[in-house]
Amino acid sequence: MDLRNQLFIGGSWRPSSSGETFTTINPADRETLATVARAREQDVDVAVAAARAALSDPRWSQIGPPERGRVLNRIAGLLRERKEELARIESLDCGKPLNQARNDIEVSARYFEFYSGVADKLYGKTIPLAGQYLNYTLLEPIGVTAHITPWNFPLQIACRGIAPALAAGNTVVHKPAEQTPLTALLLGEISLEAGLPAGVLNVVTGFGNDAGARLTSHPHVNHITFTGSVETGRLVMKAAAENIVPVTLELGGKSPNIVLADAEFPSALKGVSTAVFANAGQICSAGTRLVVDSKLHKDFVQQLQKHARSLRIGPGLENPDLGPLISEEQHQRVQEYIKIGKQEGARLLTGGKVPDDPRLRQGLFMEPTLFDEVTPQMRIAQEEIFGPVLAILTFRDLEEALEIANGVSYGLVAGIWTRDIKKAHWLAARLQAGQVFINEYFAGGVETPFGGYKKSGFGREKGLEALVHYTQVKNVCVNIDLQADLETQQGKPQTQSGVTL
Ligand code: NAI
Ligand code: MG
Repeated sequence: MDLRNQLFIGGSWRPSSSGETFTTINPADRETLATVARAREQDVDVAVAAARAALSDPRWSQIGPPERGRVLNRIAGLLRERKEELARIESLDCGKPLNQARNDIEVSARYFEFYSGVADKLYGKTIPLAGQYLNYTLLEPIGVTAHITPWNFPLQIACRGIAPALAAGNTVVHKPAEQTPLTALLLGEISLEAGLPAGVLNVVTGFGNDAGARLTSHPHVNHITFTGSVETGRLVMKAAAENIVPVTLELGGKSPNIVLADAEFPSALKGVSTAVFANAGQICSAGTRLVVDSKLHKDFVQQLQKHARSLRIGPGLENPDLGPLISEEQHQRVQEYIKIGKQEGARLLTGGKVPDDPRLRQGLFMEPTLFDEVTPQMRIAQEEIFGPVLAILTFRDLEEALEIANGVSYGLVAGIWTRDIKKAHWLAARLQAGQVFINEYFAGGVETPFGGYKKSGFGREKGLEALVHYTQVKNVCVNIDLQADLETQQGKPQTQSGVTL
């Protein structure tokens, strides 16, 4: 494998200033996969300075929107050209099944493709005013944007923020998660090959508490895009408050799949399973609560159990249904929640263990797990587990389904399974979630706005909505009143107008 392992700053590769490194493992066998440079505060400072200098570098600031779009489109092309290699690296570094990793790279390319088309369409407006004025808006880049990303979709989530930031003419400093730094570095390499000027994209590999914290509190950073835990999101927001810097926060969830009694059974079953077991449940928008009509409960759960037991577990490159979890920490955390679920009195239907297959012993695997008889206040029904664990709850009427679905502190997405369009839209209108899927889960790609209600965060990524975060509006007001000039010249008295603030 052709890996990059140094920091990518100002268009060149360099070790960290202290010479420190850290390792990233393959969670399928816990073996070291690669050693990469460990950025500390001073390396972040150098990266931010490079990004700041690139903002006013004419090679970027004067490039012109069409050419900026072309560069982004070339990045998309190169990501596709190197799809297989990138997918393998992603699969090894974070454990996900190869086909899911291939999709990640395709989506990453799509982000660049989608936003490449936007670069020359960032139109302002003209605003009609009373009197003789020309009033218009300009959409300007916001400046240096910081991107702090998690380990569950390393390249996808990076590109989700970086592509729109670049399309709008900003510059970027990206700190990927310490568990999965490899594809971010290759994006650096690709960006250079695509003709992105030096310093426009910088990648610093390192940990959260020093490199990450420095990046979020740096006075020359103008916007922060963060995806990760609520706890860290809170720290990011506090750091941003010091510098009065806007943030986009995407902080996970506890998303429900509501299955009504008239649902189309096989597709609901497939949807519910994919929603919780894709990427071994390590998805911010995973459907980790099944809220099912009590009339359907027995049959549905029986089939779901059969299905969960048939899922194949293995190393990502073997393309199983479930790969390993990302880290020792997550492995422990998920097992801890399984213990909690049992203690709370939920009924463990299947899974709940580390698989005993000796072939998997070295890896961080977990069986797909179903908990039945879960009640809304249990911790396993409230807290984000981030593993292949489904909490099953039942309801008797729509009001109750809605109350359960909304009765958590998160609100990222929600699924509804029914053939009844009135009930579907009744629920969609009342669900506290940034995205609602009807007879579907995870659909919609780079084009659809995505983000949270409540503690799932705020701001919208993806789609055209994301551009709001990466542009700032300048309003220009021009007095074009020739008549007034004439009257002033003639000494006619002028009335003072009031001030509108
Ligand atoms: P985390 O939120 O601590 O890590 C995410 C990113 O933030 C990483 O790049 C990390 O280096 C960085 N970071 C950590 N501390 C920081 C700080 N003080 N300042 C700036 N950046 C910092 O998440 P972690 O520890 O990997 O996972 C813990 C839990 O978070 C998971 O079990 C899951 O519940 C949730 N999570 C949610 C994700 C989502 O997609 N919304 C993704 C990853 C984790
Ligand atoms: Mg790794």
